[in-house]
Amino acid sequence: MNVLELIKNDHSMVDKMFQEIEESIKNNDEEEALAIFQDLKNSLLLHARSEAAAVYDRLLSHEKVKSFAFEGEEEHGLIEELLAKLDETKAVDDSWQGAFTVLKEIVDHHVEEEENELFPKMKKLFSKTQLENMAEEMVLQKEYLSTDEDFSKEEISPMTHKNSGNQTRMRV
Ligand SMILES: [Fe+2]
Ligand SMILES: [Fe+2]
Repeated sequence: MNVLELIKNDHSMVDKMFQEIEESIKNNDEEEALAIFQDLKNSLLLHARSEAAAVYDRLLSHEKVKSFAFEGEEEHGLIEELLAKLDETKAVDDSWQGAFTVLKEIVDHHVEEEENELFPKMKKLFSKTQLENMAEEMVLQKEYLSTDEDFSKEEISPMTHKNSGNQTRMRV
């Protein structure tokens, strides 16, 4: 599997969770909505951070996609802020639903840009082997982050991932 397929799979999984939460809200099942939100939060954080480390950091050395990496990381930052805000509220009230709607809008926009604008550029920029190596690195990053119980509580500012330069990283 290459990194583009891996990222797409994650995007579909996250989209499904958004739909399930919306469904739970419609059914007035607040408990279920909040339970699925916890899964969504962890999946989104793992995805964004491993994607940033395995892919975005690498885009910085390529003039044609450098600006995309900065814009994408800003969006990752906004997504993390909204996730933290939603996590603080333990009730699905009007304010929670407002923040949830904005989160979904940002994620949808971000996913569309990655899949429709960045992916075609990456296909031109990187070889088949490089894209496969990035997938391997993204999986390793996820495993590494998953072992850190506090990972979702730590704030990470754009472009300063705590495990940048970690030994699990590979050159492509
Ligand atoms: Fe993504
Ligand atoms: Fe992303």
